[in-house]
Amino acid sequence: MIALGCDHGGYELKQEIKKYLDEKQLEYVDFGCDSTEAVDYPVYAKKVAKAILSGECDKGILICGTGIGISITANKFKGIRAALCTDCFCAEATRLHNDANVLALGGRVVGPGLAVKIVDTFLNTPFSGAERHMNRIKQMETE
Ligand code: RB5
Repeated sequence: MIALGCDHGGYELKQEIKKYLDEKQLEYVDFGCDSTEAVDYPVYAKKVAKAILSGECDKGILICGTGIGISITANKFKGIRAALCTDCFCAEATRLHNDANVLALGGRVVGPGLAVKIVDTFLNTPFSGAERHMNRIKQMETE
């Protein structure tokens, strides 16, 4: 199950991503927002982070204008690894190396065609499972 969240700057791109997920028959929960009316991105980042940490969802996609504020917020939660990606190389690498569980996108940065390819890459790339990457991920969780 995929958790979706956005602010007003990411609303339109989220609609495009939902079309892709519907076509692929991938299940998701949309935690809002529900329009282009201005809202606060931390509200939606927190909803998605909590849905993943509770086990309700296994991955998340968060979108704000830049993808920055919403990913910073999500990364405050221990166990969330949110990766802001602007290309497919990074989307693939962050799954292989970081086992990222949240993809962050900038609705004012990437167009819908590229964004959907980034989402497709992120969702279809498994974690490598390599020991060195597992060790590094463990190190993220301690000060
Ligand atoms: C909202 O105007 C904008 O600040 C937000 O979408 C995001 O880009 C913040 O990082």
